[in-house]
Amino acid sequence: MKKSNVIDLIFPQGVPCVPLAEKVTTFAPTNIALCKYWGKRNEDINLPMTPSLSVALPEKGATTHIHLEEGESHRVYVNAKEMPADSAFTRRLFAYLDLFLPPAQRTFVLHINILVNIPIAAGLASSAAGFASLILALNELFSWQLSLTSLSILARLGSGSAARSLWDGFVEWERGERADGMDSYGVPLAFTFPSLCVGVLPISDAVKPISSREAMACTVRTSQLYAGWEAQVDHDLPALKKAIVERDFVRLGEIAEHNALSMHATMLSSRPPICYALPQTTAAMHMVWQLRKESMPLYFTQDAGPNLKLLFLSEHMPKVIANFPEVEIVSVF
Ligand code: PMV
Repeated sequence: MKKSNVIDLIFPQGVPCVPLAEKVTTFAPTNIALCKYWGKRNEDINLPMTPSLSVALPEKGATTHIHLEEGESHRVYVNAKEMPADSAFTRRLFAYLDLFLPPAQRTFVLHINILVNIPIAAGLASSAAGFASLILALNELFSWQLSLTSLSILARLGSGSAARSLWDGFVEWERGERADGMDSYGVPLAFTFPSLCVGVLPISDAVKPISSREAMACTVRTSQLYAGWEAQVDHDLPALKKAIVERDFVRLGEIAEHNALSMHATMLSSRPPICYALPQTTAAMHMVWQLRKESMPLYFTQDAGPNLKLLFLSEHMPKVIANFPEVEIVSVF
């Protein structure tokens, strides 16, 4: 099963690619997984081994502006800086665009400007927000009028976790069973958690040493703990949903932190080992654990990068700021 097969399933009559607007602007939030996605059962169409569940950061993410141009090749800018045509990022993006606009058929090219207000490739899901806002922009430009479910499937082809970036709030990405992935997409949960806050703790914005794609493949292939990770998700996902429904913050925090640490433990047991934490990451973890010992309900989660995201309730914001002055706080609802 290849990406082009999925495009044929979504657009059985072919991809409409007559632009109905001159320019479009769309936004998609980044999302932070509380129960992580780590491992693919199909690497080409980003089908996950397990389901996952995230919460969106409403003000943080990617805004994509697209306008049409004449020319030979699309042009892509990230935060107003033109991306070299031969960079890995541009090649990945162009290959994605070619799925919808095959070079032989197009009579125009796209000028794409993606503005991202979070560090890029540092484990803050910038690619999830980027691909989600890009597919929303294409949907508008060509007036595809696709459902958010179909857009989630298409966003997933760009970056797995982008499947969860089409909505605000809590979103579950269903694993699905089908080989074509038509049942693997984001589903928003109808529950909110008004006092939930996420604090982005910047530790380093250096680009990560190994991409999540390569790291996942290495973990699935070589870690003896991987089967345990799948079993852990089976347990964590329903427990997390229950904590959300019951607005039980301590359960939510415990599950999210333990889930993230289990994912990183599984990575550490890969060959070669994969470690996204820096010494400052571990130091910040110890601070969180110390504050918890002093009865503060504070938890963290970590993705494919050294930065931590702190989880806490709005009433504890002053104490979080006092202990982590560099934290950037986002109210989730
Ligand atoms: O979608 P990717 O390839 O950026 O992978 C995301 C992986 C994690 O952020 C570590 C976990 C997740 O569920 O978002």
